[in-house]
Amino acid sequence: MPPAPADATDALLAAQYEAFPYPARDPRDEAKRLIVGSPSHLREIDHWIFAARRPADRPLRALVAGGGTGDGAIMLAQQMAWAGRPGEVVWLDRSAAARRIAAARAEVRGLSNLRFVEGSLLDLPALGLGAFDYIDCCGVLHHLPDPEAGLAALAAALAPGGGIGLMVYAPHGRTGVYMLQDALRLLAPPEEPPAQRIETARRLWRHLPETAWLRKNPWLADHLTGGDAGLYDLLLNPRDRAFTVPELHALIGRAGLRLVTFIEPLRYEPETYLPDPRLRARIAALSPVERAALAEAITGNMGIHIAYCARAADPPVAADWTDPEAVPVLRELDGAALARGLPPDGALPVTWDGLRVTVPLPRLAGAILARVDGRRSIGAIGDALAANGVPREAFARDFAALARQMERMNRMLLAAPAAAGP
Ligand SMILES: C[S@@+](CC[C@H](N)C(=O)[O-])C[C@H]1O[C@@H](n2cnc3c(N)ncnc32)[C@H](O)[C@@H]1O
Repeated sequence: MPPAPADATDALLAAQYEAFPYPARDPRDEAKRLIVGSPSHLREIDHWIFAARRPADRPLRALVAGGGTGDGAIMLAQQMAWAGRPGEVVWLDRSAAARRIAAARAEVRGLSNLRFVEGSLLDLPALGLGAFDYIDCCGVLHHLPDPEAGLAALAAALAPGGGIGLMVYAPHGRTGVYMLQDALRLLAPPEEPPAQRIETARRLWRHLPETAWLRKNPWLADHLTGGDAGLYDLLLNPRDRAFTVPELHALIGRAGLRLVTFIEPLRYEPETYLPDPRLRARIAALSPVERAALAEAITGNMGIHIAYCARAADPPVAADWTDPEAVPVLRELDGAALARGLPPDGALPVTWDGLRVTVPLPRLAGAILARVDGRRSIGAIGDALAANGVPREAFARDFAALARQMERMNRMLLAAPAAAGP
């Protein structure tokens, strides 16, 4: 029997994801590509949750709560399978329709490390699934009647030393969405059949005045490119709310968790955008959350927040970029190609949701990046450069500067150590 919805709006939400499993996916596409992203990329879990200290041969139990049609669960299970990493990924969701699609995707890929459980994440204690080392909850909490209760249920299922990867909506980048949701509650009330509501929404979009904010918002496209499921999720969703940085931070704290990082960290650092020394002096006096809130407020383009969290009870631990044994890895980047394409002035141009920034890289960036292949350790890269006449101190200085910049972009991370020590 499907889990009982928490209230009438929650019943509408459950019906939505049954009628329009989200996101729309064709299992046959698994033969062509793997969808990767944040949170829950295996490299990110290794680095941000386990600080590159949890051995790769230790089995990882992961839960993808509100797994939908499977993007996060498929990515993680596939990355674990490709890397020969032991463990299992448990997909949990209330939607039987989403389960059918996610399971079909897993079958196309031949994944045997992925398990499917139909149920509500609010019932986790009763489901008897045990404790998890990592929990993904992407795009779910903001739909729940009580996001706090949802996150608390997840936090209670976390093993000591474990962590959570969250994605929730953020208000500014969704400018225009809530106005149209209001409009469509009037024009296409939730009691009407879904197909009729979609027809009305498409009709409205065609005639929407040019001043409507969503028309001017280039960062949202689900209503245009996400098919019926995307349109329904964005504009006809019975319940979604957005969290500012301070609101999300408070939510995380109330669940007994600690924020490890936002993704990408650099986007949440206001100095990225404000070179003015007087403004920087003011920024220096702000707390980390205030700084992130400032970045959110001045950029105005954040439509989601991705956050990695640890249990507040666990001691904070960060990846150690000074460890010569550690192995740096690039996320979806080829080090040699990146090195060849670096601008001569070392200022790397990057764009996030329409916002262009330049990230200054040190002089040896190219020489180092060309050798970051996911196998060589930091020490081995230093040795290779030393053999080419690069002084050790110059390498140490430039590697630290490069690591800092690439880590802030979430593009260079440290790998899990190969095996447990003696
Ligand atoms: C917007 S989709 C996100 C799907 C997926 N996490 C992703 O990012 O692609 C939200 C999902 O949360 C699920 N959901 C909503 N409330 C839930 C609950 N109480 N327990 C489990 N799943 C729930 C829905 O069925 C739906 O599949």
